[in-house]
Amino acid sequence: MAYTIETSLPETETSLALLKVLAENSFDSILVTDASAKGKIIYANKAFKKLTGHDPSEVIGETPRILQGAATDKKVIDRLTSALKSGKKFEGKAINYKKDGTPFIMYWRVLPIKVGKKIEAWIAIQREGSVI
Ligand SMILES: Cc1cc2nc3c(=O)[nH]c(=O)nc-3n(C[C@H](O)[C@H](O)[C@H](O)COP(=O)(O)O)c2cc1C
Repeated sequence: MAYTIETSLPETETSLALLKVLAENSFDSILVTDASAKGKIIYANKAFKKLTGHDPSEVIGETPRILQGAATDKKVIDRLTSALKSGKKFEGKAINYKKDGTPFIMYWRVLPIKVGKKIEAWIAIQREGSVI
């Protein structure tokens, strides 16, 4: 049998508790946006602050576009935009900027959070550098 979160932790409340601990304590930055076309940030973890310098409370309601700047590769962002439009996952790297303006290579994945077939939110898992 395949071991999934559902088989290992069948109780919904336990799964939710696990996911909260995971998101809050992940070494990788985690950013969640709503499912609107703009993609407004609804959650960011502590590792997001460590990576970007932005406190989660400052970025709620903004879009992750605040991380972009002059040297951000437009082709990568176009690829992400098409993935968002077609409800597919994305993985790539591009230059992003910390709150103080320091450029860095963002390596990230974006995945749809689906309930049934409906996309309810998007999650990004982000880290600095180009290696997985
Ligand atoms: C969940 C999620 C995470 C994102 N994370 C980043 C990111 O880390 N860096 C980045 O440059 N763009 C990121 N984006 C892309 C921008 O938010 C935006 O979708 C993109 O710039 C296209 O919109 P625009 O044409 O208005 O710029 C993310 C988008 C989503 C939905």
